[in-house]
Amino acid sequence: MSSQNASSLSLVEVMQTRYQENPYPLYHQLREHDPVYWDEAAHSWVLTRYKDVLSALRDPHFTAARFAFDTSGFPAEFQQAIEPPIRALTRQMLFLDPPDHTRLRGLVSKAFTPRVVEAIRPHIQQLVDQLLDTMQTGGHIDLIEHFAYPLPAIVIAELLGVPPEDRERFIIWSGDFGALLEATDISADDAIRGLYGVNEFIQYFRHLIAQRAQAPREDLLQALINAHEGQDKLSEDELLGNCVLLLAAGHGTTTHLIGNGFLALARHPEQFAWLKEHPEQASLAIMELLRYDGPVQATSRVATADMQIGDKHIAAGQNVIMCLGAASHDPEQFYDPDGLHLDRKENHHLAFGQGIHYCLGAPLARLEAEIAFASLARRLSQAKITDEQAVQWFSGIVFRGLGKLPIVLA
Ligand code: HEM
Repeated sequence: MSSQNASSLSLVEVMQTRYQENPYPLYHQLREHDPVYWDEAAHSWVLTRYKDVLSALRDPHFTAARFAFDTSGFPAEFQQAIEPPIRALTRQMLFLDPPDHTRLRGLVSKAFTPRVVEAIRPHIQQLVDQLLDTMQTGGHIDLIEHFAYPLPAIVIAELLGVPPEDRERFIIWSGDFGALLEATDISADDAIRGLYGVNEFIQYFRHLIAQRAQAPREDLLQALINAHEGQDKLSEDELLGNCVLLLAAGHGTTTHLIGNGFLALARHPEQFAWLKEHPEQASLAIMELLRYDGPVQATSRVATADMQIGDKHIAAGQNVIMCLGAASHDPEQFYDPDGLHLDRKENHHLAFGQGIHYCLGAPLARLEAEIAFASLARRLSQAKITDEQAVQWFSGIVFRGLGKLPIVLA
């Protein structure tokens, strides 16, 4: 790609094709030559500079209410089927502005304070040990299937009180939800499948919530139900939509962090050796793995006022994509941005976003990853991929992760 025509490329096209393996060179090209560019295929402005992404995420002149689907052209039957999921999804805190966002986040955040999350450390360690104990030294496994995928699924399912026998189902639905977040067009197959999946997800939660009327418990789901039934601070759509959000957000992203992180360590053996020597620094190391190859590469907002970003005029109503992955590799902000330095200090990456929508589950994701990587570093002499060809990326504009990661337990 020549530097002159960097901005004529579509982020959508590029992320789904040849830059899937490594999008960072593209981000550099865009940042250097057209840091605020109009992406025709995504119908959006795209920001790639750290300072622009940071200030846009903090700017109240953007709305998070970007989940607007016009379904008027579809058959009545289809419209009917997707109406409940659309209603509930639009009430997820991720798509709300203050004051609704403040109220909802306030209710849910009590379950995710660092203190509450820290209390489940021993249980997460136990789960990690159980998963690793089933693997034989010298054996070949797919790290995603046997470790990165089940660990966060079990943790979030337990937090929300989803019985073990139902986990498989919600894992499929959370994949459908992810596909929906990636979709740029409601008529796309992925978007339609995603909406049907989310509908099943919602029906399932209705059933789980109904069961609680007979047998209340002490967990996150019960706290949300109580908020709904108590002073009616949480509507039914809000209750359902945010259950879907917590399950979906809490699962795939953390799987990707473990997968992307392990691959990064396999490709930087000296960094894995450092982690083996300093397992107590795993928490610091996780921040660098998040910066280096984060699971969420982008988010978006809609401008509510005309504004200027860099030398571009953004009109009210236009969509803006904030490229978190590009911001976290901006050389203006990070020394050796494409290098992996697990002991990096002052690491203000944007992998968890910024501003009022900063990831609510960050303490939980960090804890799971910290325990996972410290335990892997203790048990393995090296981080070794058995077959580079079999490493399978799937990535769109938003999410970046691995479908397969074959490793040897040596
Ligand atoms: C929001 C990333 C894990 C729950 C976000 C945002 C990002 C993000 C970038 C902000 C999106 C935006 O501004 O549009 C990640 C990453 C994770 C992770 C990289 C794992 C490594 C989790 C977990 C949970 C969770 C484990 C819950 C159990 C949420 C929720 C929001 C959110 C509820 C919405 C917050 C709001 O709108 O106020 N996450 N996340 N995330 N995340 Fe996470």
